[in-house]
Amino acid sequence: MKDLKYYLKEVEEIFAKEVFVAEPKELYEPIEYTLRLGGKRIRPTLLLAADALFGGNIDEAKGAALGIETFHNFTLLHDDLMDRSPLRRGQPTVYCKWDENTAILSGDTMYALAWRYFLRQPSPRLHAILQCFNETGIEVCEGQQKDMNFERSSEVSIDDYMDMIRQKTAVLLAGALKIGALYAGAPDTEVEKLYSFGIHLGLAFQLQDDLLDGYGDTAVFGKKTGQDIRDNKKTYLPLRALQLCNAAQQNELQRLFATKDNMDEEEKVRRVMALYDEVGLKGEVEKAIADEFQKAARTLDDIQADEPLKLPLRELMDTLNGRKK
Ligand code: IPE
Ligand code: IPE
Ligand code: MG
Ligand code: MG
Ligand code: MG
Repeated sequence: MKDLKYYLKEVEEIFAKEVFVAEPKELYEPIEYTLRLGGKRIRPTLLLAADALFGGNIDEAKGAALGIETFHNFTLLHDDLMDRSPLRRGQPTVYCKWDENTAILSGDTMYALAWRYFLRQPSPRLHAILQCFNETGIEVCEGQQKDMNFERSSEVSIDDYMDMIRQKTAVLLAGALKIGALYAGAPDTEVEKLYSFGIHLGLAFQLQDDLLDGYGDTAVFGKKTGQDIRDNKKTYLPLRALQLCNAAQQNELQRLFATKDNMDEEEKVRRVMALYDEVGLKGEVEKAIADEFQKAARTLDDIQADEPLKLPLRELMDTLNGRKK
């Protein structure tokens, strides 16, 4: 039985075989650094498991698995620069270790490399696969722009937020699954259900990321906590907290999240977290996460495919549920 461990190992082998260093080294060393730091490798694992779910030969989709993870890592290089994040996977981010221009250009190169990896292997559905990859890339950028716009807005609703995280995060998980299913030649109806499973999984995943930004442990999470608060990010946390606050608390929270206060950043994080605790926010966020995981599970149940072949996807969902990093 091919379980989650099997696919994670396949993904590690794909990366182990690949050479990322080239000339000029100033361009490629940060790429090598990022891709070798690992991370959870969720997206290529989803892609391969989706291919196998519909009877595909995963060897034919390995270029795409490499491509989707390289694309994800490109978004991280630029995202860390945009968010001023110092740490990722427990190590300094590229723009901190090298500089801003390096994060931009090595990131751009990774987006182009992703296309190279996708184009390595032929497939009768390559056009549809590349179209999905391309549309996904555009949506991720749209989502990232909304995320930045929201930093400066006090009018963001929870619906706006859900739409933003669908684009910046969920479409990539959904796209990875869809691409895997396309390699296998899966029927359109099932491809769409799998895409929808990926959207719910991705929404749950980003809600968790936002929760961990507030309540995680930097040593385990690998990212500096409190960064969303320092950046005035309108994540689910402040938006849901506003609904739970009384008028005085609402005023304080809105003031703390107002563009630029001269308040010491660490004091700001401390006060926001204290307010979150006062209104019992953590449990509320956990409920929203559980709700999305449940929708994901139901969508997966509904997919017409061999039940045993769903195992790695169920295992991945269980691993992500309750994750600390
Ligand atoms: C981080 O993604 C960016 C988000 C969408 C929250 P991951 O948490 O999958 O990052 P790695 O690849 O495992 O480090
Ligand atoms: C990340 O959102 C989404 C993308 C990288 C496209 P975040 O900004 O919350 O991700 P982290 O927390 O830095 O990983
Ligand atoms: Mg970030
Ligand atoms: Mg960001
Ligand atoms: Mg985050």
